[in-house]
Amino acid sequence: MNILVTGCKGQLGTELQKIADTRHHWLFTDVDTLDICNKAAVEACFSNNRIEACINCAAYTAVDKAEDEPELAEKINAYAPQVLAETCLKHNALLMQISTDYVFGGNADEPYKVDDPINPQSVYGSTKAEGERLIQKSGCNHMIVRTAWLYSSVGKNFVKTMLMLGDTKEEINVVADQKGCPTWAHDLAVALMALLDKNGKQPVHETFHFTNEGQITWHNFATAIMEIGGKQCKVNPITTGQYPTKAKRPAYSVLDLSKIKAYVGIEIPDWRESLAKCIEELNLKEVKP
Ligand SMILES: NC(=O)c1ccc[n+]([C@@H]2O[C@H](COP(=O)([O-])OP(=O)(O)OC[C@H]3O[C@@H](n4cnc5c(N)ncnc54)[C@H](OP(=O)(O)O)[C@@H]3O)[C@@H](O)[C@H]2O)c1
Repeated sequence: MNILVTGCKGQLGTELQKIADTRHHWLFTDVDTLDICNKAAVEACFSNNRIEACINCAAYTAVDKAEDEPELAEKINAYAPQVLAETCLKHNALLMQISTDYVFGGNADEPYKVDDPINPQSVYGSTKAEGERLIQKSGCNHMIVRTAWLYSSVGKNFVKTMLMLGDTKEEINVVADQKGCPTWAHDLAVALMALLDKNGKQPVHETFHFTNEGQITWHNFATAIMEIGGKQCKVNPITTGQYPTKAKRPAYSVLDLSKIKAYVGIEIPDWRESLAKCIEELNLKEVKP
């Protein structure tokens, strides 16, 4: 298949580039080569390259900043997926859209299933939910894959921030009353490949959830990062009320993974195992000249 990947310089896009194999023809783009808000450019890209599938890794991901820039977040997270969906429909191509646990309200006490009602609490969550809705409404072949707490060895993320703080602080405070599950971008990239391989060019209109296995708080996560990263920094538990943020965060946003496991038959690694692999990768990067 001829596969277009958008937002390829981000966390997920970078991991897809690492594992992309020669069974497909890949076209990796980011905003400097293909702005997904530019309808004419998207159409030209699909026509010129006979695109058969598009993995949309491009997004506005600055959750707090989105509260001050709702129009820009809406443009990138909702309007652009609509452009991609309409273009996919026209070219009979598959759209893989990445979405988020933030589409849910966050007050559940058991993992969110794919069909549970959404109730986003932030601008970021609302714009991603609108992107999902517009894709579903377009009628194009699509797979929407919701993920959460994404991290990798590139870009800005919680793991890299904690490791940096571990080098510079004796103690830090991290919220202990928000529960979710982290996702190593590498594991998500592998799952997306499995979905592509399983489905091929068949018609599909499905939503999936993918994170690593387990459920933890940000405090648990930070503590594990310090332990595995060999940092001496003490991690104190605090409440959400003690750490105000512009965008409201879900108290509980664990995603139920049963649908994707049944669909592609994959074993999903536990969060701690994948965290250790990512930290190992970061350590290897550090020792390289
Ligand atoms: N990060 C998380 O914790 C998290 C959690 C749940 C779901 N997700 C979802 O997972 C997906 C991948 O996230 P990620 O963390 O890999 O994102 P990321 O690292 O922020 O990468 C997004 C990429 O998209 C690019 N981009 C922005 N606007 C664009 C446009 N108009 N046209 C083309 N490219 C554009 C960005 O470029 P610039 O950097 O130059 O803007 C960046 O390279 C996103 O859909 C996100 O919503 C992420």
